[in-house]
Amino acid sequence: MSELVIENLHVSVGDKEVLRGFNLAMRGGEVHAIMGPNGSGKSTLAHALSAHPGYRVTEGSVRLDGEELLTLSATERARRGLLLALQQPFEIPGVRPVDLLIAAGADRDEVATRMNEEADRVGLSAKVLERFVNVDLSGGERKRAEMVQLGVLRPKFAVLDEIDSGLDVDALGAVARRLSAATSEWNCGVLAITHFRRLLVELAADVIHVVSEGRVVATGGPELAEELERSGYEPFRVAH
Ligand SMILES: Nc1ncnc2c1ncn2[C@@H]1O[C@H](COP(=O)(O)OP(=O)(O)OP(=O)(O)O)[C@@H](O)[C@H]1O
Ligand SMILES: [Mg+2]
Repeated sequence: MSELVIENLHVSVGDKEVLRGFNLAMRGGEVHAIMGPNGSGKSTLAHALSAHPGYRVTEGSVRLDGEELLTLSATERARRGLLLALQQPFEIPGVRPVDLLIAAGADRDEVATRMNEEADRVGLSAKVLERFVNVDLSGGERKRAEMVQLGVLRPKFAVLDEIDSGLDVDALGAVARRLSAATSEWNCGVLAITHFRRLLVELAADVIHVVSEGRVVATGGPELAEELERSGYEPFRVAH
């Protein structure tokens, strides 16, 4: 069983330390959620995991099946089985999704067929995938295109930053079904950053982590998401 372990992660953006000792461990096949107030560092975690150059890791480790990922390039991380879907996906003019998938390890002979199959599963027109990566795609199309990447690459772990934002109700269902299927088809571990319990209910999330000011301050079962809906984040704020 695969394992992703984030330990004592410290990440700075400019001169500001945003993640301040972030810990989380999960196994393949599990669905974990990260919830937390705006500005608490959730997307900073996703950026740091994606090897974004503006996000400086100053301490800590991220290991996938025992191997340190932080010293690897973004492509090497993808090839090891880590997939990132960022809150604001980059447009990459000049690069087509098929090229990106091949760079990340997809089989050259099968990739076109697999892309069409996966696009069909999430109700995305295959034509959209002929455009440059994320260029001229609607918000919902981008999220569905991320699910095509997931289906083709079959990552060990998928980290999804607000994959549910801006999705219509049908798209939300399609994305949730694709992710749930991934957990059973190849034991994909899903780490979903979200503000909304709706996605977590559809995904049957196992574990909820609450983040405040750059670290996990509470971890629990699905009941924690219900509690957050009732009480907000105030009870979880860390005292200075
Ligand atoms: N590139 C950047 N330059 C400057 N500040 C940044 C940058 N990225 C993040 N920050 C700051 O770091 C803090 C955490 O931001 P982050 O995007 O991780 O929050 P978040 O938890 O994802 O919030 P949200 O729920 O609004 O998406 C914020 O104060 C933000 O302004
Ligand atoms: Mg964010």
